[in-house]
Amino acid sequence: MKTFPVQYAAVRKDKPDPDTLVFGRSFTDHMFQMDYTEGKGWHDGRIVPYGPLPLEPSAMVFHYAQEVFEGLKAYRNPQGKVQLFRPMENVRRMNNSCERMCIPQLDEETALSAIEQLVELEADWVPSKPGTSLYIRPFIIATTPTLGVHAAHNYIFAIICCPVGSYYKEGINPVRIYVESRDVRAVRGGTGYAKCGGNYAASIRAGEQAEKQGYAQVLWLDGVERKYIEEVGSMNVLFKINGTVVTPALTGSVLPGITRKSCLELLRSWGVPVEERLITAQELFDAAEAGALEEAFGSGTAAVVSPIGEMGWNDRHVVVNGGQIGPLTQRLYDTLTGIQWGTQPDPFGWITKLD
Ligand code: COI
Repeated sequence: MKTFPVQYAAVRKDKPDPDTLVFGRSFTDHMFQMDYTEGKGWHDGRIVPYGPLPLEPSAMVFHYAQEVFEGLKAYRNPQGKVQLFRPMENVRRMNNSCERMCIPQLDEETALSAIEQLVELEADWVPSKPGTSLYIRPFIIATTPTLGVHAAHNYIFAIICCPVGSYYKEGINPVRIYVESRDVRAVRGGTGYAKCGGNYAASIRAGEQAEKQGYAQVLWLDGVERKYIEEVGSMNVLFKINGTVVTPALTGSVLPGITRKSCLELLRSWGVPVEERLITAQELFDAAEAGALEEAFGSGTAAVVSPIGEMGWNDRHVVVNGGQIGPLTQRLYDTLTGIQWGTQPDPFGWITKLD
């Protein structure tokens, strides 16, 4: 493991109350930072006190959104130690996102070491209350102060961390999801498969409107035909239809989720039939109305496995599994969280234990 110099924070913050943690509100004492300069590459990796980044108003990220980000979590296991879930998957996905956004890629081992060293330093910020964890947000922004539309020559790679509880106020209780027919999040050939801020910016209008109507999030349709299901605002989506788990194929406009991949690996290991394919909203709602849609759930780092209890699409409205979490969704949730928090064996070698 590579190690980076540390500048310690002079004052340590009070930790938030683990009973009332709100996702992404309070940040730890330190952050990681590394700079990129064209001709020099990535340099000066270091851990510094958490604080503002000095950027010029002309920094390219503010104008053309050249940036990528990731999300992963650190968990406290029953032995009191801290562990990460598949962190190298996040590093690799970040590099894929960088390739799409013309951002220089990171050396995988350097990026992983940065995550590990920062989390080890902030270990006392990893909460121990069941269901809580430390959310880790690595990101890269273009900092070159110029308004021409081209790839920047300078970047900052930073990692910040925040203790979190559940992403939805509903917790593990089923959420209501609205199928969006007007706005689209991404198109094939666009940036849908990259984890970049622009995809999320495009999603905010529909998300706000869905929330006003009492829905937790939006279910996106494909950007061309507005027919095929893609993903939910902050998670991938899976449906159990007539005993088979169906999830949208990774066609280029869907985020290749690490929790999605883990769910599919678990389901296949249990002998549950799984299909990654195109699925229309019509097929989904017809299946629901015919009683064939047995379960629906989202998967994501922030959301883990989140049951969907109701779905709206234009004037159609369906309730899934009586608005209750289904047995397969519950099994996936229990198994994944059991592996992540170290209360169950880790047969796939997904866990990295820290010192
Ligand atoms: C995650 O699940 O880690 C995400 O990045 C989703 C989000 C935008 C909160």
